[in-house]
Amino acid sequence: MKALCWQGVDDLGVQEVADPTILNHRDVIVKVTLTTTCGSDLHLLGGYIPFMRGGDVIGHEFLGEVVETGSKVERHRVGDRVVVSSFISCGQCWYCQHDQFSSCDNTNPNPGVGEALWGAAPGGCFGYSHALGGFAGSHAEYVRVPFADVGAFTVPDEVSDTRALFASDAAPTGWMGADLGGVGPGDVVAVWGAGGVGQLAARASMLLGAERVVVIDRFPERLAQVTRHIGAETLDYTATDVLAELREMSGGRGPDVCIEAVGMEAHGTGPAYLYDQVKQQLRLQSDRPTALRQAVLACRKGGSVFVLGVFGGLVDKFPIGAVVNKGLTVRGAQQHGQRYIPMLLERMARGELVTEHLATHVMPLAEAPRGYQMFKDKQDGCVRAVFAP
Ligand SMILES: NC(=O)c1ccc[n+]([C@@H]2O[C@H](COP(=O)([O-])OP(=O)(O)OC[C@H]3O[C@@H](n4cnc5c(N)ncnc54)[C@H](O)[C@@H]3O)[C@@H](O)[C@H]2O)c1
Ligand SMILES: [Zn+2]
Ligand SMILES: [Zn+2]
Repeated sequence: MKALCWQGVDDLGVQEVADPTILNHRDVIVKVTLTTTCGSDLHLLGGYIPFMRGGDVIGHEFLGEVVETGSKVERHRVGDRVVVSSFISCGQCWYCQHDQFSSCDNTNPNPGVGEALWGAAPGGCFGYSHALGGFAGSHAEYVRVPFADVGAFTVPDEVSDTRALFASDAAPTGWMGADLGGVGPGDVVAVWGAGGVGQLAARASMLLGAERVVVIDRFPERLAQVTRHIGAETLDYTATDVLAELREMSGGRGPDVCIEAVGMEAHGTGPAYLYDQVKQQLRLQSDRPTALRQAVLACRKGGSVFVLGVFGGLVDKFPIGAVVNKGLTVRGAQQHGQRYIPMLLERMARGELVTEHLATHVMPLAEAPRGYQMFKDKQDGCVRAVFAP
């Protein structure tokens, strides 16, 4: 079959690879209908996530049709239209039993890497380096889905392929930021990043009852999507004093909840940004925390900061003083898709959650390298490049 492979830093190519087969009784094989790029893939492309090997198939957000099932699969049959969580979870370990599916203890066959980097390893993820299990990704004609009863969900007939595609990762990630960030009725919420994840975190915050939700970015076409499709307010951080504006919008206190949906390759302005960039390029720090710092500084006393953006290692000049002296709660997580996807599909069916506007560029898999370039450079208003294998 054809698949999009990582060939080296900033080097992707469509290659012929072996078809996946059932390896375990609880696997299914999915024929991919749609698969989308994600900001997380840019960190792989840039060489910021270690343990990639030439020829690895990337991609972790996808929807497709079940074409083969293992003998112990109970919830799925050949022909089912399913959306699959990007993180792979067993459903039975302590973490899965406590709804912390991306921390699954049974789905990452290379835990040593995570243990060395972070003290413990997260679960496995499709197409996301050998540190997260080395599973073949979804930018391919077919994918093997382990533990399919836990991680694959039948899509209701009323939900289109393009809408449901984002239930794989961007929508549950955004929802998790609002939910575990503690968003509640009357809150003021600020979200950094107007990509798919930030937009859906903003929408989740509104659905959870926030009174004011503001999304911060610099790309006018992304901010226009926020206004038009999400219904939240916007700020362009290159044109305004973000901290002053946020205080103004929140009775002088700062937002109750700050959601960071940017991650390790944040852009910024001024000398602090240049310093971060040089340190990252010299590999003296692995991550650029420009937006994270601003989120911590903006947050009201006693508020909460939820980090959805992916960080891989160490950052410099993290404002820990603000955390202590303002009494902040700082949390982060990889997405617990299995916890949220059924509820999100219901909301999609009811029209409360729309996502198809994110798929700005849909193309055949053969054009995926061009799609990634557009997504990376945010060319032509690209929010997500979506491939139809
Ligand atoms: N935690 C998870 O499970 C999970 C899941 C999916 C994605 N992610 C992460 O979420 C982040 C966003 O993903 P995406 O697909 O929306 O990516 P994206 O690249 O489409 O969007 C990121 C946005 O952040 C904006 N940005 C950059 N610097 C900024 C700053 N200083 N202030 C405000 N905005 C800034 C960019 O302009 C861009 O629009 C990535 O880091 C990705 O790895 C995490
Ligand atoms: Zn993703
Ligand atoms: Zn588990």
